[in-house]
Amino acid sequence: MSVLTVEDIQTYYGNSHVLHGVSLEIEAGEVVTLLGRNGAGKTTTMRSIVGATPPRSGSITYAGEEITDLTPDEINARGLSLVPEDRRVFPTLSVQENLVLAHNLARDPRPVEEMYELFPALDPLRSNNGRNLSGGEQQMVAVARALVQRPDVLLMDEPTEGLAPVIVDDLREIVRTVVDEDVTVLLTEQNVDFAFDLAERGYIIDTGEIVFDGTVEEIQERDDLLETYLSVGGVDA
Ligand SMILES: Nc1ncnc2c1ncn2[C@@H]1O[C@H](COP(=O)(O)OP(=O)(O)OP(=O)(O)O)[C@@H](O)[C@H]1O
Ligand SMILES: [Mg+2]
Repeated sequence: MSVLTVEDIQTYYGNSHVLHGVSLEIEAGEVVTLLGRNGAGKTTTMRSIVGATPPRSGSITYAGEEITDLTPDEINARGLSLVPEDRRVFPTLSVQENLVLAHNLARDPRPVEEMYELFPALDPLRSNNGRNLSGGEQQMVAVARALVQRPDVLLMDEPTEGLAPVIVDDLREIVRTVVDEDVTVLLTEQNVDFAFDLAERGYIIDTGEIVFDGTVEEIQERDDLLETYLSVGGVDA
């Protein structure tokens, strides 16, 4: 049964019509990737799901219940956690305070201490303010803040952006660990290799419309898709 269903959503920023009837269906426990070029509508799709930029029409259901018109806090409290593309680590709060805040908003959080085990690099930075962290460190806090909530659905918007390759490897293992605990994942990436390593299935979005969906193997075999929609291969190779 699908745990998250996005049905024909139309999302705008003011008068700017960005999503033109996006539909997605994600089964419990699946890892699904949403791929597309810069400006294709990946972040807007994530923001629509979590209530940050609610769609003007269409519907989003989670665990069989309509969540389209709930507030971001209500949606978060139902078990959906987003790692936003722009990280949103609170600059004047310490790493520990950022994690505790997320922890306190969740129904069934993990202990904050577990996050330092998952991300040992954050341990010595507990009392550092968000504003004093490197981009990669902020990204780790953003991921840890989502994971501490023990989400049922983890939404990650380009989580590898700005991470050193060795940290990307760590993150891949961390995501695998949470997937083994039956978390459902929706992941957008420009780093298609990271997405292809983790996901079973993918959607390709272009100018606010889904132009392809299929298994990761099907996407990987289609050079035309990779070249046209993902800037992979072809002239960029
Ligand atoms: N706050 C905003 N106000 C107006 N237009 C916006 C806003 N945010 C995004 N857009 C526009 O909406 C479209 C989709 O943007 P979106 O951020 O969803 O793309 P994306 O696929 O996440 O791109 P990227 O890979 O660069 O993160 C783009 O044309 C973008 O310019
Ligand atoms: Mg984006």
